[in-house]
Amino acid sequence: MTTPAMHLAQEPAPSRAAGAPDDDRPWWRLERWWGFATGIAIGLGDLALTLLLGIRFEMNGLDVTLAALALYGGTFAAAGLLFGLVLEARRRDRRAAAIIAAQMETVAATRARLAQSEKLAALGQLAAAIAHEVRNALGIIRSAAQGLNEGLPSNDADAQRACSFITAEIDRLGSVVSSLLSFARPPRLAPRSVPVEALFEQALLLARQDLEAKDIRVVRPPRARTALDVRADSDLIVQVLIGLLANAADVVPRGGEVRLDAHATGAGLVEIDVADSGPGVPEHLRGRIFEPFFTTRDKGTGLGLAVARQIVEAHEGRIEVAERPGGGALFRIALPEARVERMGAVA
Ligand SMILES: Nc1ncnc2c1ncn2[C@@H]1O[C@H](COP(=O)(O)OP(=O)(O)O)[C@@H](O)[C@H]1O
Ligand SMILES: [Mg+2]
Repeated sequence: MTTPAMHLAQEPAPSRAAGAPDDDRPWWRLERWWGFATGIAIGLGDLALTLLLGIRFEMNGLDVTLAALALYGGTFAAAGLLFGLVLEARRRDRRAAAIIAAQMETVAATRARLAQSEKLAALGQLAAAIAHEVRNALGIIRSAAQGLNEGLPSNDADAQRACSFITAEIDRLGSVVSSLLSFARPPRLAPRSVPVEALFEQALLLARQDLEAKDIRVVRPPRARTALDVRADSDLIVQVLIGLLANAADVVPRGGEVRLDAHATGAGLVEIDVADSGPGVPEHLRGRIFEPFFTTRDKGTGLGLAVARQIVEAHEGRIEVAERPGGGALFRIALPEARVERMGAVA
């Protein structure tokens, strides 16, 4: 829904402001008629005052008071009309300027998005090519290290430790390569109606180890509150949630908490919150953490949130970070609600 073309199409048509002579107000609210009416009113006022004061206009012995006042009144009315037209033109100019400014902003934003997605596409291709090469080599190195390890004399502890370092680091590189690959490949969705509860359940099951290792308490709202269905690819959204939980587990101090929640926005979206009691994301970094390769962690890849955003946006949803009330990070994912489908014939 948020392709650049759609964005532009949603802007007000420029011809309305720049080309069309009138704006969309009803005629009686246009300044020109107010100016005209004011001119006539002043003319009538002058007439009444002149008659009241007994002033008379004469020309060649004829009383031309009424004609003279009608002439004045007409002039006032014309002046009022002109003044009104000038005000309308100024108003139109201001409107046109505002619309042009808004369009320039949209065009700039679209251009930036396009540049970003082109950069990502190129980066993705490069990453995929390298990752494939690296993955093959890693596989060979790993099995060679394992072979070496098996051939080592059992009393050579140093060599055995070295071998286990090699395999552990290869496994870490392997997971970096996997996240690179999943970033490079645009996610292929198989969306269906999924209960948010099921997503929470699955994600917690898989992230439990990380959370338990640091005694992190997981707080979930009562089931009834999160009895919502989203239209989503459950595997991919679970992957996003696991990433958020892993990030939380990384920063939350021992004994802290992670809070899951969900609510419908009423606009056809369900917002899923993952909040933690960690240090939060500093305001100046909030715009950057979703960029690929942005990380503040020594062993981070900076791909977790970039992949998360890619997945959520493929669902026509969005992901944002904010500050959790009371401190900590609050990640909010908005996904399309599946309610419409449930009420229809599909369910
Ligand atoms: N829950 C969080 N609290 C504070 N900072 C976070 C949190 N989650 C992510 N971040 C910040 O966002 C950065 C990017 O995260 P991510 O894309 O998952 O990459 P990585 O985990 O490899 O660093 C992290 O390095 C960290 O600075
Ligand atoms: Mg991460």
